[in-house]
Amino acid sequence: MASLTIRKLDEGIKTYLRLRSAKNRRSVEEEVRVILGELIEGREEPLTPFSAPPAASTAPTPQRTGAVPEASVTLIIGGGIAAYKSLDLIRRLKERRIEVRCVLTTAAQQFVTPLAVSALSHERVYTDLFDPQSEFDAGHIRLARDCDMIVVAPATADLMAKMANGHADDLASAILLATNRKILLAPAMNPLMWNNAATRRNVAQLQRDGVVLVGPNSGEMAEAGEAGTGRMSEAIEITAAAERLLRPPVPRPLAGKRVLITAGPTHEPIDPVRYIANRSSGKQGFAIAAAAQAAGAEVILVSGPVDLNDPAGVTVKHVESARQMLEQVQASLPADIAIFAAAVADWRVVNEGEQKLKKSSAGMPPLQLVENPDILATISKLTDKRPGLVIGFAAETEHLVDNAKSKLVRKGCDWIVANDVSPATGVMGGDRNTVHLITRKDGEIAVDSWPVMTKEQVAIELVAHVAKSVTGKSLDDKALEPAS
Ligand SMILES: Cc1cc2nc3c(=O)[nH]c(=O)nc-3n(C[C@H](O)[C@H](O)[C@H](O)COP(=O)(O)O)c2cc1C
Repeated sequence: MASLTIRKLDEGIKTYLRLRSAKNRRSVEEEVRVILGELIEGREEPLTPFSAPPAASTAPTPQRTGAVPEASVTLIIGGGIAAYKSLDLIRRLKERRIEVRCVLTTAAQQFVTPLAVSALSHERVYTDLFDPQSEFDAGHIRLARDCDMIVVAPATADLMAKMANGHADDLASAILLATNRKILLAPAMNPLMWNNAATRRNVAQLQRDGVVLVGPNSGEMAEAGEAGTGRMSEAIEITAAAERLLRPPVPRPLAGKRVLITAGPTHEPIDPVRYIANRSSGKQGFAIAAAAQAAGAEVILVSGPVDLNDPAGVTVKHVESARQMLEQVQASLPADIAIFAAAVADWRVVNEGEQKLKKSSAGMPPLQLVENPDILATISKLTDKRPGLVIGFAAETEHLVDNAKSKLVRKGCDWIVANDVSPATGVMGGDRNTVHLITRKDGEIAVDSWPVMTKEQVAIELVAHVAKSVTGKSLDDKALEPAS
């Protein structure tokens, strides 16, 4: 018979087992036996660690909201008059899809009851370090680590003194000492306590230790006639501070930059119902627009006829023909960066039929073709409104890099993204792309060949290169992923 070592299981499974076993007041091994038994009997509990505790529990049955939590916080409520505001804080955090597990100090229970806190958090409330029911598997360590962050509100003078000096003689201080998570304190106390030299020392020490403070605010105190600094921040302010720590703002390397992008094919009319087109889907240009927008740029996308949704936060100008595309591109200048990813038709029909052309015994109507304006060359050679960085795309079916290099020189652009559009590659209309980035700096041409990637990845990589070139800073590509 095989044996199972819980310690060696995946972290996510271990966390799930710990939470579920704690909730059901069983050891982890016991819980695994129960799960296996239930699976075999076909009556397993729903796979959520937050399923309702057994009947013996004093906590109210959790009322799940249905929203999937995005983060979790252990909230320690200290023994101050502002503890009542923590009830609102629980609600606010949950509104922001942050799961809250609460710990009440002994003093806190003089101000708010575990029952109220449990009812609002929809979770069991923890109060005792020496609670045999939660300590059989070191519950205080779970509360310290099975969360993304610890919030202390109100952070009393006493709690901060204990923290600054490394005490661990109750559940709250033991958690604060045992955690490796970020800690956010919302101090609340009388102004004289806040300004006391001992509190000043403790606050300074905690800040040196990397603890983050929100507030306290100034204003009237609970004590009649007293005012000054010491009021706990409002729940909404603490929630915002928690969110800033949990979800640091995404870097916006292209903030303040205007990026002009073209995408898709152009349709060149033969008559009112027929046109010359190509197989471009517009996916690559749209992905670049989304990535540039995620990087903070103001994005104008001039698109030929495509079957794609406009990317969020991008100004899209829909056009049909090459001449309309050029017109909209020119009207969208000035721009800091221009990326011409559209597959613009090289030719158009000069003798376009005003009415639908008819079949006749005289044979096919003679279609006279004339060259379309070259958008990339036109914009690259501008003297006044030329964007600082002009990037073209080269779709080639042979001699890819060599053709792309000569295109770079011929058109006068700065970079070319060369992609092989031979039918075998499936690039035209497909979701993946293999590209070579050809750059020119001080007369030197460099070729950077990228592996096969999705068009979204190519877009993110290209925008990262653009941002580096424009700002001089390297970027983590992850930061540029458009929000899903
Ligand atoms: C009515 C009342 C209100 C209190 N308010 C505060 C307060 O706002 N801030 C504070 O630091 N201490 C306050 N205290 C003192 C704390 O309750 C006391 O220092 C306690 O030991 C703190 O416990 P804790 O470490 O569990 O937070 C108050 C005490 C009383 C009796």
